[in-house]
Amino acid sequence: MINVKQLSHSFTLGKKDPKTTLPVLKDISFNVKRGEIVSVIGKSGSGKSTLLNLISGFSQPTEGEIWIDGQQVTNFTEAEFADFRLSHLGFIFQSFQLIPSMTAYQNIELPLVSKGVNEYDRKQITIELLKKTGLINYQGHYPSELSGGQQQRVSIARALVLNPPIILADEPTGSLDSETEADLLQFIKQLNKERGITFLIITHDDAVAAIGNRTIAIKDGRLLEVGDAQ
Ligand SMILES: Nc1ncnc2c1ncn2[C@@H]1O[C@H](COP(=O)(O)OP(=O)(O)O)[C@@H](O)[C@H]1O
Ligand SMILES: [Mg+2]
Repeated sequence: MINVKQLSHSFTLGKKDPKTTLPVLKDISFNVKRGEIVSVIGKSGSGKSTLLNLISGFSQPTEGEIWIDGQQVTNFTEAEFADFRLSHLGFIFQSFQLIPSMTAYQNIELPLVSKGVNEYDRKQITIELLKKTGLINYQGHYPSELSGGQQQRVSIARALVLNPPIILADEPTGSLDSETEADLLQFIKQLNKERGITFLIITHDDAVAAIGNRTIAIKDGRLLEVGDAQ
């Protein structure tokens, strides 16, 4: 489902010549099969978010290829990637990334508006997800009126709203207490099982990594090990 081939990425630092380059990812290759949950672990600064940004098309790799669902996404234009994201990828972030001026309902509905779904269908889908995430009584609340766990549920509902085959999560429990974290991990497992959603989850937390079928570690820019849970 996700196929990363000999991926390398460096950042160019400063405006002076000669420019300094910071190599972050070096010759990374791995596959994520359909229906798998794969965790990516590594210390802070090891390049985990950089990897996710490349897979998401928010930046272009220095070298290498990324294939998602049979398509080489590294060749996409920005507009093509934007379309591809809407049909293939859902995102969950540590900081939730909700729009503060929109209610829970409006935040969840937003990708449907971007995709041009009609109002009747938008309402059906949004209400169903509000129910599924236990937020139906909070639909009119703004993010500032919700707890961290509730905000993360809104962001998950938003990630699910276009029914993506893949969800990419960057430290999804990083801002949650341990009880809320356990609930969220349970919910991720349930979505994986019920809907067959493929998850790539970045974390530095062992409890999060443990829900994965496999764990990939990044150290000094390289893929260190691919542990097999079975
Ligand atoms: N846009 C950027 N420009 C320059 N350096 C960056 C940029 N983004 C990340 N870095 C650097 O790349 C390294 C990896 O960062 P990141 O992928 O965010 O790590 P992680 O998510 O594992 O904590 C760090 O040294 C960071 O400072
Ligand atoms: Mg990060």
